[in-house]
Amino acid sequence: MAHLEETAVLRTQTDLTDRPDKTMDNNINQIPERAFHEHVEKVKNWTNAFYLDTGRSPLYFIRTFGCQQNDRDSELAAGILEKMGFRGTEIPEEADLVLFNTCSVRANADHRFYGHLGRLKPVKKGGWPLIGVFGCMMEQDVHVGTITKTFPYVDFILGAGAVRTLPFAVTQVLFNGSRKQKTVNLTNQRGLGDDVSLPIRRSDPHRALITIMTGCDNFCSYCIVPYTRGRERSRSYDRIMEEAENAVKQGVKEILLLGQNVNSYGNDRRKRGEENAPDFASLLQDISRLEGLWAVRYMTSHPKDLSDKLIDVISGCPRVESHIHLPLQSGSDRLLKRMNRRYDAAHYLDLVRKLRACRSGITVSTDIIVGFPGETEEDWRATLRVMEEAAFDAAFTFLYSPRVGTPAADWYDESQHEIVQERFERLVEYQNELSLRSNRAMEGRIVEVLVDGESRRDPSVLSGRTHDDRLVNFGSVQKDLRGGAGDTPPLLPTAGPGDVVRVLVKKAGPFSLDGEIIRE
Ligand code: SAH
Ligand code: SF4
Ligand code: F3S
Repeated sequence: MAHLEETAVLRTQTDLTDRPDKTMDNNINQIPERAFHEHVEKVKNWTNAFYLDTGRSPLYFIRTFGCQQNDRDSELAAGILEKMGFRGTEIPEEADLVLFNTCSVRANADHRFYGHLGRLKPVKKGGWPLIGVFGCMMEQDVHVGTITKTFPYVDFILGAGAVRTLPFAVTQVLFNGSRKQKTVNLTNQRGLGDDVSLPIRRSDPHRALITIMTGCDNFCSYCIVPYTRGRERSRSYDRIMEEAENAVKQGVKEILLLGQNVNSYGNDRRKRGEENAPDFASLLQDISRLEGLWAVRYMTSHPKDLSDKLIDVISGCPRVESHIHLPLQSGSDRLLKRMNRRYDAAHYLDLVRKLRACRSGITVSTDIIVGFPGETEEDWRATLRVMEEAAFDAAFTFLYSPRVGTPAADWYDESQHEIVQERFERLVEYQNELSLRSNRAMEGRIVEVLVDGESRRDPSVLSGRTHDDRLVNFGSVQKDLRGGAGDTPPLLPTAGPGDVVRVLVKKAGPFSLDGEIIRE
């Protein structure tokens, strides 16, 4: 991964800490649901008129950066836009409304967003397309300032997770004469909006992303998330179950439970006096019992909060995925302390041992940061030792990226860049060896795969994931050998998105398996 220098305007500590307390829901999400629907209707009338005028529905395009919580918010935004009469397009240049869902976690996400936004300037003519920006960057005053000053052709901005405000923003832009004046700023309007009746347009109809909590209380010293997403807030157990049950009824095969720290699900509710609010292990167990579901996945688990009860659930519930994502960040106890992670390498390895013992074949993936300020060769070697002992099946590796306002940014020493870059490359190489070793063990085996669809790189190939989260590619068509007239047997599609198929693994690479579908 290329290291990109931070060039975006930086913000100060005060910018972060002066933000209002994000545990407070304020007006917009407390307005009655009726008002949301009224605004949806207003836009719908406008899109109808647009259709009568032009013979087509207005088109939207959403570009999403960041984590799956953002993916989920974009699915909600798409659902709301479709309800208002917009239709999706894959081509940003032909859209009438372009939305960006932004991420602040590392500098390259910032840069990519501003790059895309800048490229829209020459595209925008006579006020079209409408441009809206939301997501984590819009929780930082500096970026709100940059947008309003440097990119005045942005029509509206919303806060992270505040997709419910979308109809309000669109009506303001369309009807309140705000268009030619300035960017409509609704970033102070927020709230979890625990409302299962919001429309959703899933990217994969067979996979439901369900946010179970937002925010984070951990304040790892390198991380911006607690400042952008605010304090931990868990959704109600009943609402989550209702959403999961509905999803399965609609044919969803896989549920992905999302939170920055799913293991602390419910803590905030119990602290607020809801003594019997279920914990994550119970929630996971209950969801795994839904009839018709193929797998329930979850991320992210923080090692300091992973309970024995959760390990028991993983062990006893076959529909819980055979995989866990457990970010290590560093194998050096000294750095883990400076990162404020609140576990050490021994505790982490102990968890991995318990997990591997609780279910045979479980895979473990992780996140690792290379070049955290003050990292020495010895710290880096400690990480390699933990990687070896944990035998990670996969890892996301990141170069440390200073996030202004977080404590670690003040310790950053850019002069270490070359050394860090070299360590990064060697560590990635080592992980690739570990990943390849893990995947090689699958060669010759038959695995169950939930099909996602055609592979992005080659439409003659289908791809999907195993229960233990390995990516599998296999042929999208095969000869129908059952006979029929003529010399050449017809080619039949082997499977479609949402099917669960059995695949014989022929060849393993570090990131995927190649195989052949088994015809039952
Ligand atoms: N809540 C999750 C992770 C959220 S961010 C957890 O705690 O595990 C996803 C990953 O981005 C983190 O695990 C970390 O490895 C990486 N990350 C976060 N901040 C970073 C930074 N400033 N520089 C580089 N990587 C970072
Ligand atoms: Fe960031 Fe740490 Fe919270 Fe994860 S647990 S979101 S790394 S502060
Ligand atoms: Fe990025 Fe926000 Fe997710 S900072 S990683 S989109 S919580």
